[in-house]
Formats: sequence, structure tokens, C-alpha cells
Amino acid sequence: MALFQSPTRSVPTIPQVPRHIAIIMDGNGRWAKQRYLPRIAGHQRGVETVREIVKACRELGIEYLTLFAFSSENWRRPADEVSFLMQLFLKMLEREVSKLHENDIRLKIIGDRNRFDANLNQRILDAEQLTAGNVSLTLTVAADYGGRWDIMQAMQKMLQARPDLVSGFNEEDLEAYLSMHYAPEPDLFIRTGGEQRISNFLLWQLAYTELYFTDTLWPAFDGEALKLAIQSYYARERRFGRTSEQVRSERMQDGKINA
Ligand code: IPE
Ligand code: IPE
Ligand code: MG
Repeated sequence: MALFQSPTRSVPTIPQVPRHIAIIMDGNGRWAKQRYLPRIAGHQRGVETVREIVKACRELGIEYLTLFAFSSENWRRPADEVSFLMQLFLKMLEREVSKLHENDIRLKIIGDRNRFDANLNQRILDAEQLTAGNVSLTLTVAADYGGRWDIMQAMQKMLQARPDLVSGFNEEDLEAYLSMHYAPEPDLFIRTGGEQRISNFLLWQLAYTELYFTDTLWPAFDGEALKLAIQSYYARERRFGRTSEQVRSERMQDGKINA
């Protein structure tokens, strides 16, 4: 039995409040450039936005928040920027994990950890272990993550564990091995910074996610901006392949709207 409903196998129950929000935190470099600062100043300021958004999500009762921090393709950036981002990630883990734990937040890191150094990998394991039992919010940080990598590694792991599936398998079989198997698919996707693309984020899981793009640069994004995104989500009609009439009549039967 799958843990969560898959929108391609059956019409899922739509949550009142989005259960899972996934964000591409983009625009740090441009935020810094506008202020004649080095790009790294934008990344530093971006960390403060992370704190604010985590807090806001916890207060709003969002169950899962997933943040794209570093993509498989971000290794192509200048070496000094990459090394700054790795240092920043390590510092965040050193400084913030106890606060997350105090706030009953479970931390998960998804991505290919092979290119991280041993110290960083150990910190990641410790942080995940410490916060594993927390239930108020699951905060997932995608680092050295790529949607294609995720699907490929899942297939590899699945076939290693279940060689019998080589002759045929279904979505449910594969999903158990995807990095985010512990979470429902995102209800709302937000990308800051003005670009309108997925940049190899959660390719599998975004199949029926509502997409929201804003020009606001990540360091300038805040709790109010998050609320605007959530409001826009409420105005959407999630049809999952059905017609609008079908959706409305089902909602009327459920007593969710008046005739
Ligand atoms: C997002 O901001 C942070 C990372 C990708 C690590 P950018 O660094 O991509 O900022 P822009 O897009 O150059 O403004
Ligand atoms: C996407 O941002 C990845 C993260 C925010 C971590 P990029 O700035 O790297 O995306 P592209 O290169 O503009 O698509
Ligand atoms: Mg960018």
C-alpha cells in the first residue's frame, strides 16, 4: 500500500490548507547585484528568508516544506561561490539544528551526497537523526539534488532490491525508492526570482502541483509574500484530469460549496 495518494492513479483528496509547499529559492545573486554587493551577500541574506519562511509555515500549519538549495547543475558555478555555499550549508547545520529541534521540526536532506565532504555528510546524518521524531513540520532541504538523478537512483535501487521487477513495475513500486517517499506530493510550488522553469527540481512529484511564479527575489521574499502565494493557490481549481463541472458537482455532494 502506498503511503500517499498518487494523482495519476486516483483523484486525491484536496487538503484545506496546502500540506506540502516546495520552493525554488532563486534570485540571491541579483538581489546582491542590485545593491552593488558580491553574490555571496545575497546567499547570506537568503538564509534569513529561510528562517522566516520556516517559521511562517510552522505557524500556518503547513506539514511539509521543501526548499531547493543547490541543484546538481549548480556545481558548474565558479569554485569560490560553490565553496561558499557549502560552508554556508555547514554553518546552517551547526547553528540552526538545535533550534529546529526545539520547535519540533524534522529535518531531511535529499540529494546525491557523494560530492559533499565527510564532515558535511556527518552533520547531515546527525541532524536527521536528532530531529527524526519531530512532527510539527517536515523541512526538506534539496542539496546536490536533481529530479532526473532522483528518478534514476530510485530505479537503480528498486531493481537492486527487487530484480524480479525488471520485467515490469508500476508507479507505486518506484515511488517507494524516490527521495521524497516520506511526503505527499507538493500541493503548491513557488519559484522566486522571476524565472518560469522547474530547473530539474522535483520532476516526478510536480505532476499535478499548482505552480506559482513571483518576480520577488528570494532575499526579499517574506511571510506576507508566502501568504499571497497561498491565496493564489486557493483560487485554483485542481481538476486532476476531470472537467470543471465534475469537480463542482462533487464538491456540492460533499457539502463544500452551496448550490
Ligand atoms: C539561488 O540564487 C541560490 C542558488 C542557486 C544556490 P541564485 O544564486 O541563482 O541567484 P540569481 O539567479 O543569480 O539571481
Ligand atoms: C535553481 O536555481 C536551483 C536553486 C535555487 C537551488 P538556478 O538559479 O540554479 O536555476 P537556473 O540555472 O537559472 O535554471
Ligand atoms: Mg538563479
